Amino acid sequence: MSLYKKSFLKLLDLSADEINGLITLAEKFKALKKNGVPHKLCEGKSVALIFEKTSTRTRCAFEVASNDLGIHPVYLSPECSQIGNKESIADTARVLGRMFDGIEYRGYGQEIVETLARYSGVPVWNGLTNESHPTQILADMMTIKERFGTVKGIKLVFMGNSMYNMGNSLMVGCAKLGVDFVACSPAGYFPCGDLTKICKAEAEKNGSTISFITDPFEAVKNADVIYTDVWVSLGEPDEAWAKRIKDLLPYRVTKELMDKASPDCVFMHCLPSFHDLKTNIGKSIFDKFGIDCMEVTDEVFESERSVVFDEAENRMHTIKAVMASSLCPEQTLDKI
Ligand code: CP
Repeated sequence: MSLYKKSFLKLLDLSADEINGLITLAEKFKALKKNGVPHKLCEGKSVALIFEKTSTRTRCAFEVASNDLGIHPVYLSPECSQIGNKESIADTARVLGRMFDGIEYRGYGQEIVETLARYSGVPVWNGLTNESHPTQILADMMTIKERFGTVKGIKLVFMGNSMYNMGNSLMVGCAKLGVDFVACSPAGYFPCGDLTKICKAEAEKNGSTISFITDPFEAVKNADVIYTDVWVSLGEPDEAWAKRIKDLLPYRVTKELMDKASPDCVFMHCLPSFHDLKTNIGKSIFDKFGIDCMEVTDEVFESERSVVFDEAENRMHTIKAVMASSLCPEQTLDKI
């Protein structure tokens, strides 16, 4: 595979070989880091990290991975830059493209990362848009591979609100890599028809299936992975909570649900998660609606089956693979 000088905007743009290649490279980086072997493959490069929305994992992953690769990262927030307010995305792209070797973007519409890539002339990496969260899916697939030795043939059930970026991106990642994907949601919360059609065709090519099921206990039969995400996404209004809680409460991941899946089934979540009352939002939801957890119980989150912190760590190794693949020629990567 060669992703040299290429952007990473959405998983649909990549072949299965390219996605698997990135996971293999991330595994190599993880081993190097664990063994204390320096791997500053991109010494002298600089990257811009644009965050129009908040982040813990993605920002830290890009910054730590940059440091490990010898890259200088520059963080740009809406408060400290002209982006969007005084300067268009196309103009910003042309400015940053003259100074940086790569640009990461987290924020709003997918068209923004596409515009940055079109106008900047340097690789652009999607750190989350309204439609897509591709670096998260790389980390998830790496985590599944670590747990089961393979991703092909695994059954993954996404529980809850599957109509947004996480449900959509997991469906694409599963279709590309031959994972059986089940979206388990109430009517009205499933991924959109156009993307589903594309993913069904891709899954068929790769020997897997895409299904939509409304009954949680039916959906988790023989599941190897139960995955969920928060019920209200970044940037949605607070008023969304009441309806989401009413609609999605039956889709909370509980021990009873985990017990109906395969005996080796793991619990996954991209994080952050509302599994207890130790967050401001968790406490405010408890005060208003009287529930002490949302998409997952604390019991499942803290259980042996939970691999959520492996996923979080793997964000860094996979993001490192994405940046290195875009910034280094193949010969450089072949040496590690
Ligand atoms: N999973 C994820 O994207 O985490 P952050 O929002 O903390 O970056």
